[in-house]
Amino acid sequence: MRRALLAFAAVLPGLTFAADDARQPIVMPQEARAEMRAEMLDFQTALHQIIEALAAGRHAEAAEVAERTMGISAMGRHRNAPANARPGMFMPNEMHAIARGLHASASDFARTARTGETNKALEALATVTGACVACHRSYRIQ
Ligand code: HEC
Repeated sequence: MRRALLAFAAVLPGLTFAADDARQPIVMPQEARAEMRAEMLDFQTALHQIIEALAAGRHAEAAEVAERTMGISAMGRHRNAPANARPGMFMPNEMHAIARGLHASASDFARTARTGETNKALEALATVTGACVACHRSYRIQ
């Protein structure tokens, strides 16, 4: 398996996996990796905006950002991209399930935040960040 992976890696320029890393390496074309990393940076920015809005008592804004950027509404972002630029095509089922869980939990957070209850909203937000952690602890693309 490792040998096959290395053989594949050899044809993708710049792709090397650290050996002393327990996370499962996911091989994807450069285009899909770039798409995924751009999406990740958007997630991080969204998370920052959400926390800022919650802290300022702007629950509706926190809900709107979450739904638009990470919620069910944000699924299918790569639907019309060529196959080699669609990260989802290269994810194992378990990884895909975590991604779907992220979208569902972000929509769940949006619904909760709209009630204006900060503690419940934070609890729901922890489910969202739990999906970030679960995936990052398990997988890597470099
Ligand atoms: C389905 C899996 C998955 C989920 C869910 C996920 N990520 Fe990631 N993320 C990854 C992988 C894989 C990488 C690349 C790690 C590596 O460098 O090998 C990554 C990288 C990143 C990076 C670094 C981007 C760069 O420039 O290299 C950021 C920032 C990030 N994720 C933020 C988030 C945040 C915030 C969330 C949750 C809101 C999240 N991610 C949810 C899989 C995921």
